[in-house]
Parts: sequence; structure tokens; C-alpha cells
Amino acid sequence: MDVMPVDIKVLVSQGAAETDAALERLLPAATVVPASIHAAMRHSTFAGGKRLRPVLAYQAARTICGSVPEGIANLGAALEMLHTYSLIHEDLPALDNDDLRRGKPTCHVVYGEAIAILAGDALQTRAFEVLANLAAPAEATVKIIALIANAVGTVEGMIGGQVLDIESEHAKPTAELVNAIHRAKTGALIRVSIVAGGVFAGATDADLARLDLFGRKAGLAFQIVDDILDVTVDSAALGKTAGKDLDSEKATWPAVFGVEESKRQAAELIDEAFAALEPYGEKAEGLKAVARYLVDRKN
Ligand code: IPE
Ligand code: IPE
Ligand code: MG
Repeated sequence: MDVMPVDIKVLVSQGAAETDAALERLLPAATVVPASIHAAMRHSTFAGGKRLRPVLAYQAARTICGSVPEGIANLGAALEMLHTYSLIHEDLPALDNDDLRRGKPTCHVVYGEAIAILAGDALQTRAFEVLANLAAPAEATVKIIALIANAVGTVEGMIGGQVLDIESEHAKPTAELVNAIHRAKTGALIRVSIVAGGVFAGATDADLARLDLFGRKAGLAFQIVDDILDVTVDSAALGKTAGKDLDSEKATWPAVFGVEESKRQAAELIDEAFAALEPYGEKAEGLKAVARYLVDRKN
């Protein structure tokens, strides 16, 4: 069967534009009192993120029901609010202490630490408020909220991964340690973006198991590439401080395997991930294209 080639640039830019429009609608204006926090939330949210988690959610939904469902941009916006909250907090002096993010000065550099902490908190609570009002059946909505809360949490989730990451600085990096950090710190939110997109589209349990497997592999590949970019691309191209992982002696994939072997493993993970999508044929082409983009990206 001939498969229509997917234009990944168009697919990502359209998904990003729809996410931006939803975020614009869902976040209080920068003039709403107390204005400082709303300006801070918007500063980091609209600093120019790639919006890959929302795009993964949209294409996962399309894999299940054949098109990108109406109303899913609010799910994408909520995922992006959570991701942005994590970046604001991650960049604080007490954590990674970074002053550049998405090509702009970080939230605490512009608004001060107190407002930056609160802006992160506020993006997280607003995200769950948005999720509670999703245009999906009540059962699917509750399932999405539970899955996302779990993925952001402390047990095998994003926050747990951040803790492990901080506490492993200066430790001898082993494959097991780095895998555990990556699976939780970045992998969990990527995986749940894909799974939640599927739930929104009415996926069965068998579908969700396939999306979960795909998401695990794609999520790990994504963070391996993040580690590679940190040591191979400069800060201007990255929009964040390059060489940071080496400086803070972070446990990274290249630290264990070297850059070339890391690249090979990231590509292999994507091939393995594709196998999980076999039953969906052409409907999965968009999701596969985004996964390929996760490892081919330059920032
Ligand atoms: C960066 O994520 C932080 C990690 C979890 C590695 P992205 O590379 O998706 O960053 P943005 O959203 O495009 O800024
Ligand atoms: C960021 O991880 C992950 C979260 C914010 C949860 P990193 O520290 O590896 O990401 P960058 O390289 O600063 O974007
Ligand atoms: Mg960091």
C-alpha cells in the first residue's frame, strides 16, 4: 500500500500553533491582577518551546481514531503548562541554576525567585483545572487526570526523576542509573502525553498498552538526544546553556556510552518503538514522523 509522506515540519508547526492558541485562551492575560504572576507564567510559556508533548498527544489520538479530535488542544495546552512549570522550577538556583531557557532569560532572572516559584505552582494547578474541563467523556477525563498526575509525581514520575537527577550529580554514571533518571525525569511526561492522547480518542486497553510501550521507547530516545545535544550544540542554537551536564557532572547517556553509541541507541529505540504501532498502518504515520523528529532535531 502506498503511504502518503508526512510533512513533519507542517505537522509540528500546525500542532504548535493550535497549542499556542489554546494556551493564549486558557492563561489569564498579563494584565489580570495579580499581574506579576500572570506575566511570569506567560513569559516562560510563550518563550518559544517546540510543543512536542502536545504534538505527540494529537498524533497519538490520530493513530487511534484516524483524525486529530476536536477539543484536544486543551489537553495539549495542559501538558505544555506542566512541562513549562517543570522547566521554571528546574532552572531555579536551588536546582539547575540556569539563566537561559528557550532562548530567553529564565523566569526567576526576570521576575525574581519568589514569583518564579509561584508561577510554576500556578501553571501546575491551572493545568489540572483545564484537564478537569476537557471535552471528553467523564470517565476518559478522570483517567487522563489520574495518569498525568501519576506521571508528574514522585514514584517513577517527573518529580521523582528530578530528585534522582540532583542526587546523582558527581556519582559514577551507570547505564541502570541513567536509565532510571531518564525514564522518570523526562520519559514519564512524554509517555503520558502519548497515552493521554489515546485515551482522549477513545483507545481500548490494548491500544493503551501499545501506546505506552511506544511512549517508553520514544521518551527515552528523546532524553538521550537531549543529552547528546548538550555536548554537541552551542547555547545559541539550543536556546539553553550548552555543556551544562558536563559542568555539573550529570549522569547522562553519553557519559556512559559516548556520543556515537548514544546516537545509535536512540535511533534503535525509535525503530523498536515503531513495532508497537504495526496494527495501525497509515493512521500511525503522523506519530511515527514525530518520533523520528524527536531524534533528528537540532535543538
Ligand atoms: C527540554 O524539553 C527539557 C527536557 C525535558 C529535556 P524540550 O526540548 O521539549 O524543550 P522545549 O519545550 O522545546 O523548550
Ligand atoms: C529537565 O531536564 C527535565 C525537567 C525539567 C523535568 P534537563 O535538566 O536534562 O533539561 P535541560 O537540558 O535543562 O533542558
Ligand atoms: Mg536542566
